Amino acid sequence: MDDYSLTHRPRRLRQDRIRGLVSETSLEPSDLIAPVFVDATADERIPIESMPGQERVPLAEAVARVEEVLETGVEAVMLFGIPESKDAEGTRAWAEDGVIQEATRRITTETDAYVLTDVCLCEYTDHGHCGPLEDGLGEGHSHATLTVDNDATLERLERIAVSHARAGADMLAPSGMMDGMVGAMRSALDREGFEHLPIMSYAAKYESAFYGPFRDAADGAPAFGNRRHYQMDPANAREALREVRLDVEQGADVLMVKPALPYLDIVAALRREFDHPIAAYNVSGEYAMLHAAAEKGWLDLEAVAHESLLSIKRAGADLILTYFAEQIAADLGHG
Ligand code: PBG
Repeated sequence: MDDYSLTHRPRRLRQDRIRGLVSETSLEPSDLIAPVFVDATADERIPIESMPGQERVPLAEAVARVEEVLETGVEAVMLFGIPESKDAEGTRAWAEDGVIQEATRRITTETDAYVLTDVCLCEYTDHGHCGPLEDGLGEGHSHATLTVDNDATLERLERIAVSHARAGADMLAPSGMMDGMVGAMRSALDREGFEHLPIMSYAAKYESAFYGPFRDAADGAPAFGNRRHYQMDPANAREALREVRLDVEQGADVLMVKPALPYLDIVAALRREFDHPIAAYNVSGEYAMLHAAAEKGWLDLEAVAHESLLSIKRAGADLILTYFAEQIAADLGHG
């Protein structure tokens, strides 16, 4: 070995007292958004089996649930609703007295939480798809050829957006992957005087098997078929740039990638390509698999959760939606 090769010793900067000064990435409670499930059919909190530590709460507990989140140091929540009833059109999604509208009113009046709402129809339609159905391209009328009617869905998303805005939501997050959804919501909001309300688009949302536990939690699994006619193909990365660029042109303020860990290449690509804040959704399956391994004693839950979130930030995300939000924030000790 020649001496020259040892002029460079990266280990010099890995000594305990210098690590903090040279660390490139940090994780703060203010980077995190905690998803909260409000269930209009529940009269008490219902634990979600496939997501240990998460629960659906009744409306009467929504404020208390959000206060628990705030106590950990996390300042933002994303609300998902389970309506009291479902129909083919998903009409409870834009009802003035709907579960999310009511929860948003209560939470924004009674707490300082920054409230984001998920704008989609899949929890509200009886068939579980993200909009009203129409015959798909091609053969016959079997279920296999039914698909979501894109343009009819846009009009519903506009109504949902305005109803959430009126209820006091701080940011809206459309998650249905309909073409034109950001632009449609932006013009509806502007028309109604909500031009200052930002939109976080689920801009690159993949058709992922990692959403399984969420679909139990929010009761939003499609009754037939899958979502591959609207969510992105996991095989595609260049398409994500095209898809996201369209949302940027339509006025998206924050760009989200979902899921997070299996798609960090997409997070990094968006970070390079756009100057908007980038969000990543560390989804239910990512949470469930770490919990399952930790339950078996195979992984240290706190360590792998922290490392996962740090890696999502290192890849280029500014903010992270995660079911680990409360635990990590509490562990970071800012609470
Ligand atoms: C749709 C929606 C889904 C998730 C967030 N919003 C489910 C889906 O697209 O099937 C998944 C979140 C998660 O898995 O944690 N409204």
